[in-house]
Amino acid sequence: QRFASLHLSNFVLLGFNERACEGSLACSTCHVIVMDMEYYNKLEDPADEENDMLDLAFGLTETSRLGCQVI
Ligand code: FES
Repeated sequence: QRFASLHLSNFVLLGFNERACEGSLACSTCHVIVMDMEYYNKLEDPADEENDMLDLAFGLTETSRLGCQVI
């Protein structure tokens, strides 16, 4: 776990957040939007593989991440 405390109110979960690939960075069904900029800035930068999948995500925003990598 990357953070000792996690508040789901920091995120907007999109769709059903079904995590179709179970976190193997092969889908974008876990797309989330981080609402808290302070929290967003604490996250490690996304890996190239995460960015590739985010490019396929519906409704991409400046603070989009893949939930399986940050939640
Ligand atoms: Fe597929 Fe997150 S569950 S990339």
